Amino acid sequence: MTSESIPPTPAPARRTVVAAVGAAGLAVALTACGSSDDSSSGSSDTQAGDNASTGGDTGSGSSASSGSGGGSALAKTSDIPEGGGKIFKDPAVVVTQPAAGTFKAFSTKCPHQGCAVSSIANGAIVCPCHGSQFSVEDGSVKKGPATTGLTAQNVTVSGDSITLA
Ligand code: FES
Repeated sequence: MTSESIPPTPAPARRTVVAAVGAAGLAVALTACGSSDDSSSGSSDTQAGDNASTGGDTGSGSSASSGSGGGSALAKTSDIPEGGGKIFKDPAVVVTQPAAGTFKAFSTKCPHQGCAVSSIANGAIVCPCHGSQFSVEDGSVKKGPATTGLTAQNVTVSGDSITLA
């Protein structure tokens, strides 16, 4: 036989009444919110005076080198053959007289590769390096390989003296 023994329920627990102390002391803390709009204008436009564009390079002391006061005569007009010219080494200039009483001057530096012209023949200033020829009238190219003419120089004629300006 099976006997089921059900244990008896325990005695009812003591009902503990917790008296909730209703302290209705609602302390409404009225925090006076002073309208402190913290708008301390921090938008300080940084206008640093960075004016870097100062093109004030006015101190151009271009001392015009007028070493030889008055300019010494380069040659006499009678030294320059009509229809031809004469080549000077110092200063490096070739003076020509394409027509009677008309004098021209050019740099002796050949524009091709920089050789110094060395002779004048048949109305042409000749470069010995590669054979370029230039007109005694205006220094223009008469024969290549140079593609540009000689650089003109200024000369002044006073009496029978030719002076490089
Ligand atoms: Fe004068 Fe070449 S440098 S022709």
